[in-house]
Amino acid sequence: MPYTNLTFDVRDRIATITINRPDKLNALNDATIAELDLAIGEVIARTDVGGAIVTGSGAKAFVAGADIAELATQGSLDGRLRAMVGQRIFTKFEQSPKAVIAAINGFALGGGLELALACHIRIASDNAKMGLPEVKLGIGPGYGGTQRLPRLIGKGRALQLMLTAEMTDAAEAFRIGLVNKVVPQAELIATAEAMLKLILANGPIAVGLCIEAVNRGLDTTLEEGLVIEANHFGLIATTSDMKEGMSAFLEKRPPAFKGA
Ligand code: COA
Repeated sequence: MPYTNLTFDVRDRIATITINRPDKLNALNDATIAELDLAIGEVIARTDVGGAIVTGSGAKAFVAGADIAELATQGSLDGRLRAMVGQRIFTKFEQSPKAVIAAINGFALGGGLELALACHIRIASDNAKMGLPEVKLGIGPGYGGTQRLPRLIGKGRALQLMLTAEMTDAAEAFRIGLVNKVVPQAELIATAEAMLKLILANGPIAVGLCIEAVNRGLDTTLEEGLVIEANHFGLIATTSDMKEGMSAFLEKRPPAFKGA
């Protein structure tokens, strides 16, 4: 698929989506958001892709936010629509049954942090800086930040980041659970690939159902969430992957999952 504002490469079943506007610190203009929609659609649809890494080009930024030059001209109706379009696309990342890891290689601000929050796992380079500084611009987060950040790090810390507009560094982001791991920048992509390879060695249906159960369960009661989990447990018992996983263990060999 042709992309202008990002690159999409597939190697060893891993798709790497690299947002590629380094002169604008990879800021998300509407065209880039639309390409992210196509890219995550490609990840989900392609049978030769098992999972994805999202990162930014250059050594300075993952994504420094939504494109402020575009936001500056919006009115209330197109502003609302812009938020809804971005939210829908980021939700597609969150609901992807294939694991998506954000490799945060520098500034992840505003829409950049919101994109990372929609990914399943976040790995940051040690120079990364993260925040939701929208209030400095007189706006609030519009691509899911007010909802996903408190779910991940708790209400108090999320409000602190949003209301002060301060950036947090990678070490603090790790301490508060905003990122899963921090590594030197030179090791970032290799670390993300290694983690994704661990995931790709597991049953793909099981991985997809874990993502679905966690996503749905967090939005409902514990009781409902447990029903979702039990239903998945029953559903997966119908798959040949379950038989393969258990047989492989008993036969002391690695499993060969087929996603069926
Ligand atoms: N939207 C549009 N352009 C952006 C941008 C954004 N979110 N973030 C950076 N840029 C552009 C700058 O305008 C500049 O373009 P120019 O060279 O044509 O003037 C270029 O990217 C480099 O940014 P610059 O500000 O010169 O880099 P810096 O190292 O001095 O500062 C940041 C880096 C990230 C601190 C600073 O760019 C910044 O605060 N960006 C906005 C962050 C933000 O508020 N994001 C939330 C948006 S809702």
